[in-house]
Amino acid sequence: MTDKTFSLTNNVTGDSVELPVHQGTMGPDVVDIGTLYRNHGVFTFDPGFVSTGSCESQITYIDGEKGVLLYRGYPIEQLAGKSNFIEVAYLLLYGELPSKTQLSDFSGSITHHTMINETPLRFFNGFHYNAHPMAMVSGVISSMSAFYHDSMKIDDPVHREIFAHRVIAKIPTVAAAAYKHSMGQPFIYPRNDLDYCSNLLNMFFSVPCEPYEINPIAAEAIDLLFILHADHEQNCSTSTVRLAGSSGANPYAAIAAGVSALWGPAHGGANEAVLKMLNEIGSVENIPKFVARAKDKNDPFRLMGFGHRVYKNFDPRATLIRDMCHKVLKGMGGAENAPLFELALALEEVALKDEYFIEKNLYPNVDFYSGIIYRALGIPVSMFTVMFAVARTVGWVAHWLEMISDPQGRIGRPRQLYTGAALRDYVPVSGRD
Ligand code: ACO
Repeated sequence: MTDKTFSLTNNVTGDSVELPVHQGTMGPDVVDIGTLYRNHGVFTFDPGFVSTGSCESQITYIDGEKGVLLYRGYPIEQLAGKSNFIEVAYLLLYGELPSKTQLSDFSGSITHHTMINETPLRFFNGFHYNAHPMAMVSGVISSMSAFYHDSMKIDDPVHREIFAHRVIAKIPTVAAAAYKHSMGQPFIYPRNDLDYCSNLLNMFFSVPCEPYEINPIAAEAIDLLFILHADHEQNCSTSTVRLAGSSGANPYAAIAAGVSALWGPAHGGANEAVLKMLNEIGSVENIPKFVARAKDKNDPFRLMGFGHRVYKNFDPRATLIRDMCHKVLKGMGGAENAPLFELALALEEVALKDEYFIEKNLYPNVDFYSGIIYRALGIPVSMFTVMFAVARTVGWVAHWLEMISDPQGRIGRPRQLYTGAALRDYVPVSGRD
């Protein structure tokens, strides 16, 4: 709390309200409207939460004007260049970088929780082979609440920690099972001698009948994408996890809600939509036609992978992923994917010079280039959002832990501006026209 206040005046009654203002470590101050309804009988109205802070958090900071993203205070560029996904996961969950022993204990715990119970593994057989993998992942994660009763007391910090390690360890196994089911191939069990990302690649691409060699560039690319996707403060899916979890729902159900929210094309589904769009554009000559469509108010088409609710300068993650794209396509001999990458670079160049995109501050976001890397690694388009979900599980869990251990926490319950019918009397069907 600061000494600052914010005044609101009712211009009918002349009443004035002094609202307290809170100051964070960084970022804009927030006006505390918590007592507004109780004391003054009005709600605030902010569809899409454009100006609303829904909670206090110490995990991730974004400055959308300057293109800054910090995890627990550390710049994303430093973490992407010097750390790895497991260390970043520890940082997001526990708030500090781990000591050597803490890192080895954490990594060991994640490694030893990678297998999933055989019964939920059999659930995959209940899905049609062409079910969307996000449907399978959300269903199986939710059903895990029926299997791990020994760690479901959400008011017990030890149970919470076991849940956190379990779900982070098992989500790659679930994702790989969804992929294998869609391919009609046998599930591949986790290998505890491999690091997190190499194990994921092995579960995706190895088959029992021949050896599979993990390409270190592929593992490095996945590790980078996972670091960049691990958290992004109160985005749609994270807010969904918090809201679902605020009712005291079991944490697997809350994470499954996050998976469902991530699925949409305006959120995590955008990486899938970008690839579809690039394929539709087809070649550089067609770019002006598609850019014109994106600008046309009467055409619902948007440039997928462009624009962001928070970043109004550039998305720092997009720059890092673009660099990795170069490395993957060069290092893995992805000749067949090069034209797609060149098309994406050309589209970015055209859009960034266009008055419409400049004026509306529309820049490539994290999803603009990530799909090109995933495709070069052999991951099918329908699995892109699943890969995002694997990484974001860390952020969801960190936020769920923060929310559930907040002593002031209460159920999330927004209000509304009602514009429906006013009070009226029921008329029996015989009396209606
Ligand atoms: N192409 C063309 N025009 C766009 C685009 C785009 N990609 N994005 C925004 N605009 C325009 C809108 O038409 C609107 O124009 P108007 O002011 O004339 O009405 C203006 O820019 C503001 O757009 P909003 O949709 O109001 O912005 P909002 O903050 O609500 O949405 C969003 C952000 C959903 C990311 C939007 O930019 C979008 O749909 N982008 C494409 C989908 C995408 O890439 N999503 C991934 C986001 S990153 C993530 O979730 C991991």
